Amino acid sequence: MPEREHWTSRIGFILAAVGSAVGLGNIWSFPFQTASNGGAAFVLVYLVAVVLIGFPTMLVEFVIGRRSESNPVDAFEKLGFGNWSFAGAFGVVVSFVTLSFYSIVGGWVLSYILGSVTGSYFGDAAGYFGSIASGTPAIIGHAIFMGLTVGIVAFGVTDGIERATKVMVPGILILLVGLGVWAATLSGAAAGYDYYLTPDFAVLFSNLDSIIPYAVGQAFFTLSLGFSVMIAYSSYLDRDDSLPADSGAIVGVNTLIALLAGFVVFPILSTIGVSPESGGAGTAFTSLAGAFGQLTGGAILGFVFFSILLFAGLSSSISLLEVPVSYVSETYDYGRTRVALGLGTAIFLFGLPATTGLATFGWYNDVVFNLLIPVAVLLFVLFVGWVAADQFTEEISLGTSLGDSFTITWLWWVRLVIPLAVGFTLVLGIQSLLLKAGIIDAAILLG
Ligand code: TRP
Repeated sequence: MPEREHWTSRIGFILAAVGSAVGLGNIWSFPFQTASNGGAAFVLVYLVAVVLIGFPTMLVEFVIGRRSESNPVDAFEKLGFGNWSFAGAFGVVVSFVTLSFYSIVGGWVLSYILGSVTGSYFGDAAGYFGSIASGTPAIIGHAIFMGLTVGIVAFGVTDGIERATKVMVPGILILLVGLGVWAATLSGAAAGYDYYLTPDFAVLFSNLDSIIPYAVGQAFFTLSLGFSVMIAYSSYLDRDDSLPADSGAIVGVNTLIALLAGFVVFPILSTIGVSPESGGAGTAFTSLAGAFGQLTGGAILGFVFFSILLFAGLSSSISLLEVPVSYVSETYDYGRTRVALGLGTAIFLFGLPATTGLATFGWYNDVVFNLLIPVAVLLFVLFVGWVAADQFTEEISLGTSLGDSFTITWLWWVRLVIPLAVGFTLVLGIQSLLLKAGIIDAAILLG
């Protein structure tokens, strides 16, 4: 067996994890989830969900990974609970399915980078989106995006992933701040900030039952939790690193980037007078892109914005592919390149049905959000909290000076609060899937 790679530095690990976390979820879905869930009120609930649910759950994946020093499937066996291996495998499957549609969005982004150069979406962004979102253009975009992902992953953890994210993550931050400064000069900036930052508590309280599951789901997705990714990444980590400090840094940077995206999107939309609520998967590609068409210098801004999205998407997709690749190549002793190519092709094929139309695409997205992620998180949390808690309370205290009261609080939080929050999210998520499939009707909804 080849020797296991290690992160060359702590910052390398943090950047790779940030690269995984910062993705289309921050820049594409966060502002638009915010818009379709009532603006600033959603931001507030999201921030609470990130801190109270996301941060401790990230520690759950970290302790499994570092304790076992192993890929997510074998990790459970190494820890003495081979009958839990299905949980790690389940996370790997979630990564596989997610990448199959994430890559299609990556392909859309490529079409818009091209469109910023040729100007083809400036006149009619919605029409342009309709023409590239499915069918042959979507398949080509999907193929190119997967090809780029496979290329980087084939180089391995230190040469490919660490190096790529070291360039991409700071690049995203700098470009986004630049766009945010420019957006502040627009005439609609004040109205945009108001919508984004002044919560309407009436809206908040009357929609709490739908806002909470969205906010919790978005927190998991954006922090890449429930995918075994953080298990895999932390397995390359040294024992003298502080897991809470690393997790805090990752959660902090990821949240900062999502919030920054809002500072770009809302001033632009209110300047051209588009209601942010129009929502939906296509909004960044229709209303926002349409705004680029109307603003001075829009071609350059559109190019910059969609390039940021490309970097963010790629730094996430390489981490989505890395998990299955490292598992298969370690287990069967095949070369990385071959495995990356083989799995990349399989994921590409698995995603193909979602290029037939937005309705099918929506199913991929909804099954992952409403069902697969919460189930995976629930499995990890129950395992750490109830099945093998002793090893993990020891593991979390290594490398940190936070002490016993932190450990105990975290443990009980993982045992009780997170399973309740995720269970609630899961019930509502399954309900909305059944509703969408027409298996139940709205009259019998809980909550
Ligand atoms: N966090 C990524 C985003 O915000 C998406 C994502 C979800 C992801 N799960 C992942 C990325 C697992 C890498 C690995 O867009």
